Formats: sequence, structure tokens, C-alpha cells
Amino acid sequence: MIKTIGVLTSGGDAPGMNAAVRAVVRTALSKGMEVYGIRRGYAGLISGDIFKMDERSVSDIIHRGGTVLYTARCPEFRTMEGVKKAKEKCDELGIEGLVVIGGDGSFRGAADLSSLGVLCIGIPGTIDNDIACTDYTIGFDTAMNTAMELVDKLRDTSQSHDRCSVVEVMGRGAGHIAVNTGIACGATDIITKEVPYDIDAIAKTMLEKKAKGKKNFVVIVAEGIGHSQEIATMIQEKTHIETRATILGHVQRGGNPTLRDRVEATRMGYYAVELLEQGIGNRVVGIKDNKLVDYDIQEALSMTKEYDEKLHHIAEQIAF
Ligand code: ADP
Ligand code: F6P
Repeated sequence: MIKTIGVLTSGGDAPGMNAAVRAVVRTALSKGMEVYGIRRGYAGLISGDIFKMDERSVSDIIHRGGTVLYTARCPEFRTMEGVKKAKEKCDELGIEGLVVIGGDGSFRGAADLSSLGVLCIGIPGTIDNDIACTDYTIGFDTAMNTAMELVDKLRDTSQSHDRCSVVEVMGRGAGHIAVNTGIACGATDIITKEVPYDIDAIAKTMLEKKAKGKKNFVVIVAEGIGHSQEIATMIQEKTHIETRATILGHVQRGGNPTLRDRVEATRMGYYAVELLEQGIGNRVVGIKDNKLVDYDIQEALSMTKEYDEKLHHIAEQIAF
């Protein structure tokens, strides 16, 4: 029976991470375990920025964005010396199990620490939804809703001026935020790395739509494409429609988590502690077909996630 566990958040933050931390802490306490909070991800595990958590440590956080445990990127943890230092800190405090809330990079670190005997469980927390072993990652829903609200605002001003608005949304290399935001905002075009695109063709269809009475246009560009300003300039040159580029940026990573993020974070946090309770480690938790699942970390990292091309094409087909 595991007596003591730790919890940390690592890599880019995501709304809903606090709900996951709360679920991990409260579930562990309810099972009679002791829980340590580790600040700033693996950096805090190496330096010992660690504190005992109780029921009240996670009060009033379920609705807050960001992470009360703070987060960091820790280059030292990419070296075996760094991982050994973290293992020594775990031994010193009696931490037998560790819940790591983060993305792929954080799970690679968790696999290294698992190989030294600390039972690690990864919980997918990233707005990008780019983790293959799960249908859903914590923060995705909040980020998409934030992007949608911001694009709606841009649409108002775009409409008043008969303009085209080129909007870049986050997602690192993946177009999941872009395609969903695009469909929810009725975008004229969605540009992601997953589907080939051609600016000449986009400009041509825009002019055809303009000839049929369309007055304003929204083009969603995934961060992985980049060059949003250049894309806007090209569209303006080719169509003579006044065009503005907006990069939404980090505003998409903040804000109170949506209901979906709070619920999924809580489910995954609870499940992670259940695994540790059974002495299971080196796993990543996920949600598939709305069921909680878990995979060996290496297996999870080797999987690839499908892009919803169908959704992409539906959006384009009905954007008159
Ligand atoms: P994310 O977890 O969101 O993908 P990063 O890729 O920045 O974010 O990874 C977060 C942290 O995980 C890194 O700062 C580092 O400490 C650790 N990490 C990342 N990649 C590895 C790796 N290949 N081996 C060990 N640790 C890693
Ligand atoms: O992974 C989440 C994310 O917000 C990506 O969408 C984006 O590419 C990246 O993190 C930005 O990272 P940083 O906070 O280091 O600028």
C-alpha cells in the first residue's frame, strides 16, 4: 500500500490543472495517503520546493485558471543526473508515487523517473489536445471557448468595415483548436498543417463569395502554420479586400476552466490516484469514448493522434 505521493504540474499551463490537483489531493487524503505538492514541475522536485498538502490546500481553486503549483520547463531533468537528484528527493521524503500533470515532454520525464523506481502517473494537461492516447486533454475546451469568444469580437469589427480577419490560434504543431474554433465561428477558411492549402485558391473563392454578396471574412490559421501577417498581406494583395491579422496568443491559456475541463480533470485526477493505490506506475491516464483508460508511458508516446479532417471539410463546404 502506497502511503505517500507527490503531485506537480509541468510544461505549459492549462485551465483545469487546478481541478486535477484538487482531485489528486482530495482523493489521496480520502484514502489515507499523505500528499506533497511540488512547485514548478521537475525544477521544484530537484531543488526541494515541496510542501505537505491538506484538505484546505486545494480549497477555492477548482474554478481558477493557471496552476497553484506553478509550472516550469526544467532542462536539468532531461539529464540522468537531474532525474537521479529528483529520485533522491523522493526517497528523502518517502514519496513513492508521483502524479505529473502536463504534456508529452513531461511524460518523457515521468518515464525516466519511473525507471528509477518512483511510480509515476501522467495526466494530460495541455490546451493543444495533441496527446494521442486520449481523446481529450485538460484545458482544450476552455481554450477553444476563449478563442471562439475572441473571434466573435473580431467578427463584429470586421463586419463593420467589410474586412477580412486572419486570426492565428494556438496549438503548437496541431490544428485541433483551429478546426474547432473555425467551425464554431463560421470561418470562411481554416488553415492547418494537416490539410493542404493554397492561398491563390482561398483568394479566388473569397472573390467569388464577395461577388455573391458576402461582405466580411474570417480565416483561422493554426499556430503551426505561422506567418499570419504574411497570409493577411497576400490575401489583401490578391483580393483587394482590406485584411487584418490578429494573433490571439497566450490569452487562450488563461481564464476560468469550463465545466468540461473541471469534470474531466477531476475524473482523471481521481483515476490517477486509484492506479497508484494499486501500486501501478509508469502509465498515462486518458479518456477514450468517454471511458477512463491508461497506457504504458512509452506506448502512449508512440501513438499518433488523428486530425478531424471531416470537420475541416464540413466547415469549408458550408462557408458560403
Ligand atoms: P509539455 O510537457 O507541455 O510537452 P515540455 O516539452 O516543455 O512540455 O516538457 C516539460 C518538462 O518535461 C521539460 O522542461 C523537462 O523537464 C521534461 N522533459 C521534456 N522532455 C523530456 C525528455 N525527453 N526527457 C526527460 N524529461 C523531459
Ligand atoms: O502547449 C501549449 C502552448 O500554449 C502551445 O499552444 C504553444 O505553442 C506553446 O504552448 C507556447 O509556449 P510558451 O508558453 O512557452 O510560449
